[in-house]
Amino acid sequence: MVGQWLKISKNWSDISKNSVAEILNQRRACRSFLNRRPPEGLILELVDKARRTPTAGNSQGVEFLILQEEDEVEDFWSTSLGEKDKKSFSFPGLLEAPVLVVPFGVPALYIDRYRERDKNYTTLGRGEEEWKVPYWLTDAAFATMALQLLAIENNMESCFVGLFDREERIKEKFEVPKTHEALGVLILGYPDRQNQVEGASQKRKRRPLKEVAHQGRWNSQ
Ligand SMILES: Cc1cc2nc3c(=O)[nH]c(=O)nc-3n(C[C@H](O)[C@H](O)[C@H](O)COP(=O)(O)O)c2cc1C
Repeated sequence: MVGQWLKISKNWSDISKNSVAEILNQRRACRSFLNRRPPEGLILELVDKARRTPTAGNSQGVEFLILQEEDEVEDFWSTSLGEKDKKSFSFPGLLEAPVLVVPFGVPALYIDRYRERDKNYTTLGRGEEEWKVPYWLTDAAFATMALQLLAIENNMESCFVGLFDREERIKEKFEVPKTHEALGVLILGYPDRQNQVEGASQKRKRRPLKEVAHQGRWNSQ
């Protein structure tokens, strides 16, 4: 049905402002935020919605570290970058964001789930090394994307960045179990439109649809 509707739709102008299609059209990573906090309770409400995205075997092994008190956010950046790098950071407006959400995948919850009777025909219950695709990170990414869309619906913007070697320091600082795997960090807040900066990667052109959508077979024309 949706496909049919898309075909007959002449343009996107009849799509309402907050439709998923419109939000995806508008969405860009934001690297400069106002020092303005979201209403009390909003972020938790959005995380509650975002966690309704699918999880493999309904394992529900995605958890979130939510930092929105000023000292928590400050601690995150000091731990992540260190005081010296914080001063020379290329996107100072990013550090103004009032909210940080670090989504974690919990491998043990997936392994336990796939050891249950209806799933133990797979070998996935044997341990992490059996998982060609670590579904805990797949599911964490689904939830994180939902959170980004929900943020836009609530007039906020976001930027997702990786943690790399900072992950262990952050886990230790915020007492996250060592076994949990961070996806990265979603930086959230209200955009500072006067001081927007574009990251180098953002300047890259979008690849043509025909290069990425392979219809029927890989080398179709
Ligand atoms: C998995 C992932 C990791 C990213 N890591 C970084 C990062 O470390 N630093 C950064 O400035 N942006 C990072 N980004 C943001 C991308 O650079 C940005 O989304 C991309 O350039 C496309 O721009 P757009 O989001 O505005 O469409 C990351 C995005 C994703 C999805």
